[in-house]
Amino acid sequence: RIVPVILAGGQGTRLWPMSRATRPKQFIELMGNRSLFQQTLERLGGLEQYDAPIVLTNEQYRFVVAEQAQEAGIALGAILLEPAARNTAVAIASAAQYALSQNEDAVLHILASDHAITTDGAYYDAVKTAEAVARDGWLVTFGIVPAAPETGYGYIAVGEALGRGASKVGRFVEKPDLAKAEAFLADGSYVWNSGMFMIDARTFIAECETLAPETAEAARRAVELARVDLDFVRLDAGAFELAPNISVDYAIFEKTSKAAVLPVSFAWSDLGSWDAVWKAHQADAAGNVLLGPALLSNTTNSMVMTNGAHVVVEGLDDIAIIASEDAIFVGRLSQAQRVGALVKSLRADP
Ligand code: GDD
Ligand code: MG
Repeated sequence: RIVPVILAGGQGTRLWPMSRATRPKQFIELMGNRSLFQQTLERLGGLEQYDAPIVLTNEQYRFVVAEQAQEAGIALGAILLEPAARNTAVAIASAAQYALSQNEDAVLHILASDHAITTDGAYYDAVKTAEAVARDGWLVTFGIVPAAPETGYGYIAVGEALGRGASKVGRFVEKPDLAKAEAFLADGSYVWNSGMFMIDARTFIAECETLAPETAEAARRAVELARVDLDFVRLDAGAFELAPNISVDYAIFEKTSKAAVLPVSFAWSDLGSWDAVWKAHQADAAGNVLLGPALLSNTTNSMVMTNGAHVVVEGLDDIAIIASEDAIFVGRLSQAQRVGALVKSLRADP
């Protein structure tokens, strides 16, 4: 059996002003009338091998997680609460420690909570294959055929074949600069890390102890001293806060010799910008995507999302207009990946 572990503690700034510190991307309805987190939960229904999921989130999102899971009708195995934001390495290590305390042979499917994925047979076949590879002692990443020299992804050089369609990771480079990303794309033997992993909990902890001992120790203590509070497992703050702020990609996957990659063919988007959200939707004949009340005239290749304000646009091309209750972004849709940097330069989340 497989224990799904959903990472739902990120604070995504690139989809401002819809994604906010108080209600980040994974909890908003970007694709249809369920949040991305709810759609992640719903995908679990398609595979009989899944146990009840563990959700990892920051303490400040505990109620939105509980409410959205209930609304989706999915019973959670546990909600682990992080007392501080320390990125994904210690979050995953804590989930692995917790899962081991329940089952020594636990295999974990680590899932982002904020991606758009089309589940067809290919998706569930890949999950089952990855479980088998993980039980052989590999830390499995799911590889996506790259479409552009994106610098926001991890790149994986596909190495020696391991059978079942999986290969050793030749090299893992997290978030390369543009020159490197272009070289990897031209090389043709690299795939993107999807940010989903299949890992045997014990193997992961052992690698963590060797490669990131402070992370391993913080997670071990945080789980050992955790306090169960209603539906929540509160990780111990004193122990957890000692963890370095580092992602699993830098802390483990760039360093381990146990990484394997399973190239996959299902449709995947990390919805990393408004441009990516536009691409993930079916545009109308003029190339527009409208989410919410909007009227576009003589306007092409544009995206409008509004939480209530009526938006009317005349005579524009390649425009993003994103209107939340209290803030508006207007800019070139094709340049919308710059939102994240702009928002970081605003002092506080307005
Ligand atoms: N629980 C918890 N705690 N979750 C977190 C935290 C945290 O402190 N920080 C981030 N997350 C969640 C996010 O909500 C998201 O679902 C997932 O972990 C990945 O974090 P991101 O911040 O979105 O990572 P990224 O997109 O920059 O990079 C990762 O994903 C790419 C694919 O989308 C890396 O794994 C890349 O290698 C990968 O290509
Ligand atoms: Mg992401």
